[in-house]
Amino acid sequence: MKKNGKRRILITGGAGFVGSHLAIQLKAKYSRYEIVALDNLRRRGSELNVPRLKAMDIKFVHGDVRCIEDFEGVGAVSAVLECSAEPSVLAGLESSPAAVVHHNLNGTVNCLDFARKFKADFIFL
Ligand SMILES: NC(=O)c1ccc[n+]([C@@H]2O[C@H](COP(=O)([O-])OP(=O)(O)OC[C@H]3O[C@@H](n4cnc5c(N)ncnc54)[C@H](O)[C@@H]3O)[C@@H](O)[C@H]2O)c1
Repeated sequence: MKKNGKRRILITGGAGFVGSHLAIQLKAKYSRYEIVALDNLRRRGSELNVPRLKAMDIKFVHGDVRCIEDFEGVGAVSAVLECSAEPSVLAGLESSPAAVVHHNLNGTVNCLDFARKFKADFIFL
């Protein structure tokens, strides 16, 4: 969905390594794009990227993809880039896998459901 002729893109995990670089590079290349970065800042150090995002006029939403209510502050979008994750291959190996399933499976289902509402394009990292 385009707002005021602008493309709006949600990047989940937008303060992470991949998400923040994508957000900043997209904004640098396509200044008219409105980019929203949603992140729960779970990964240590991800909070350091928030000022970098804001400096590029990228909206930051402190939210968790496991909570569908946290998407409410995002608004309509034309594309979702799903970069949020518990990316460690060792996560859940020696402890319960429940947290990995919640972040990486249930969270992605919520992202897909959010994209479905707006018939938005979807890229899953
Ligand atoms: N880093 C790479 O080289 C690389 C290469 C290919 C694919 N990937 C994939 O890209 C994705 C992101 O990897 P990364 O290296 O950027 O990891 P990262 O840990 O730097 O970023 C993930 C971000 O997601 C956030 N996050 C975690 N759980 C969340 C939740 N429930 N709700 C909202 N935000 C949440 C974290 O706070 C973090 O900022 C992963 O799926 C990874 O497998 C990464």
